[in-house]
Formats: sequence, C-alpha cells, structure tokens
Amino acid sequence: MNIEDIAKKMVAKGRGILAADESTGTMEKRLKSVNVECTEKNRLHFRETLFSSESMKSCISGVILFDETLRQTSDSGISIPELIKKNGSIPGIKVDKGAKLLAGSNNEKVTEGLDGLRERMEEYYKLGARFAKWRAVYSISSELPSKQCIKSNAHSLARYAAIVQEAKMVPIVEPEVLMDGDHNIEKCYEVTSRVLEECYKELSIHNVNLKGTVLKPNMILPGSNCKEKTSTEVIAKKTLECLKKNVPSEVPGIAFLSGGQSEVEATKNLNAINKINDTSFNFTFSYGRALQQSALKTWAKSMKETAKIQKVFDHRAKMNGASTEAKWSEKLEQSSAA
Ligand code: 13P
Repeated sequence: MNIEDIAKKMVAKGRGILAADESTGTMEKRLKSVNVECTEKNRLHFRETLFSSESMKSCISGVILFDETLRQTSDSGISIPELIKKNGSIPGIKVDKGAKLLAGSNNEKVTEGLDGLRERMEEYYKLGARFAKWRAVYSISSELPSKQCIKSNAHSLARYAAIVQEAKMVPIVEPEVLMDGDHNIEKCYEVTSRVLEECYKELSIHNVNLKGTVLKPNMILPGSNCKEKTSTEVIAKKTLECLKKNVPSEVPGIAFLSGGQSEVEATKNLNAINKINDTSFNFTFSYGRALQQSALKTWAKSMKETAKIQKVFDHRAKMNGASTEAKWSEKLEQSSAA
C-alpha cells in the first residue's frame, strides 16, 4: 500500500488509533498508579490483552507501539506487529526520543531523535511498522510558548516527516499544546494557530506530501485550571475553526490526542466536532489515556480475566468509533456500558 492509502485507512470513518506507545518511564507511572510492578512481562501482558480484543477489527485502524513492544512476541507465538495485523489494524511506531530541555529557552522543550532516524526507519519497516509518530510539546503561560520553541519543534517535525515518507511510511505529525495552566480557550486557540501555521510552513519547505500524513493535534480547550466553564459546543466550534484555518485541505485526516481529558469527555468532544464537520477532513481519535484508563484499572484488579478486561476496552473503542461518525450519545454510552 502506498502512503496516501495508508493515511486514508488510518483515519477511515468508524475507526481510530490506539496510542499504546508509552515509553518505559511513562508506563512506570501508569502501572504505579494501579499498584502493578512495571516489568517487561507486565507491560506486554496488558498491551497484548488490548491488541487481541474484538474491537481491534472494527474500531481500531492503527496501533502506535513503543520500540520494545514492536520487538515482542505474543503468547500465541506470533510477533506483536503480526498480531495487530491479524486483527485488522496497522502497526505503527513512536520514533522520537522524547522532549528535552531546549537550550537558551525558559524551560521549554524540543523533541529529539533525528540522529540515525533514517537507519532506524529501515529496521522498523522490516519489523512491520507502516506509520510513525513524533510528538512535540508546547506549554502555555503569559510568555510561552516562545518563537524559538515553535520554530525549532516545527523544523524537527518536518525533518522527521520527510525521513519517514522516504522510508515509505506515514508520519503522524503531533504538535501538542499542553492543557496545563489557567489560560482560557481563546489563548489555546491563539497558541495552537501559531504552532500549526509554523508546522505547515516547515512541512512545505521539506517537501512533505501532505496526503501521506496524519495530523495529531490537541483539541481547543481551556487550561485544566481555568475558572471559566466552556461548553462542548464551544470546544467543537473553536477546534473546527482553528483546524480549518491552519491545516491545508490535502491532509486526509486529523486524529486528536486526549491530553488529559477524561474518557467520556474525549469521546463527547470528538462526537461534537464530527456533528458540525463541514470540511474534507476525517476527524478521529489517537487516544492513549482516554482509551486505556478503565481497561488498565480492570486489568490491575483482575489480570487473569481477559474477557472482562477486553469488554471494558471494547466499550471505550466502540464509543469513540461511534464519535467519528457523530453517532455517540449519553444514552448509547450507558446502554453499551450495561
Ligand atoms: P493521550 O491521548 O493520553 O494524550 O496520549 C496520546 C499520545 O500519543 C501522546 O503522545
């Protein structure tokens, strides 16, 4: 399949992406929160349980993996990327080496990992990955993000995207404006606009084929400590407006990150965006926490009860699948959970 077809498949209606690419450090935090030891065996067991669930076939278009997982073998003896493919989904790989302190800035971050990336992509392709992910992060305060942070991250994202396409894989371009802070939704709109504008400027300079990319942005939301209440309708309207203004129409689809929203909130907001979508973009999800939280808690309590864990995951995946077609409702949420 060529990269344009892969990208289309990743954002196809009714489906979305499972972001299971937590680094070992992040996974340590997640497992600690449910009192489970962060061993290689436990990380594999939880992830394999999700990747074998029924909703993989109908609601999950792709799975983003961490380097460790791409190389692991499932209980049934086949490799993890094979298991994902067998269950109807596309394996992908996180290729950045994390957000590091940006020299000369006021504690801002720049994502690293370009050195040796071309060689790594060749190996990842052989291991079965067909798309990649690189995440840049931007904090909001009265002075931040700086021009320096916006420019350096856009440059790296574009260089990454060009290398990934050279390896015949689809780059997920993920510029994440973080929710932390007491800023209002207008501020998030303004910062996200500046960030996206710079990213698409750089992607164009680096001759990236936008039809073979997927954008993974934050939704336009008030900061997590903002005192003002914002309705779902306003969130959807602002998000759509911001993306319409700043994302070229060649991009086939936009897969949101959940970024600290609760599971139901992330589903509800995606549904509201799709309800008013008058663009050519397919809006879907590429959720980590908002797809895994409840399943992780269930797994921690009843590790051996595979069907029970998968049921919890399937419910969440189905609800988000419905949201990609604006078919989700509170009623569906409750009836499906019961
Ligand atoms: P969250 O949905 O938990 O924000 O994770 C998505 C992701 O892949 C972050 O890079």
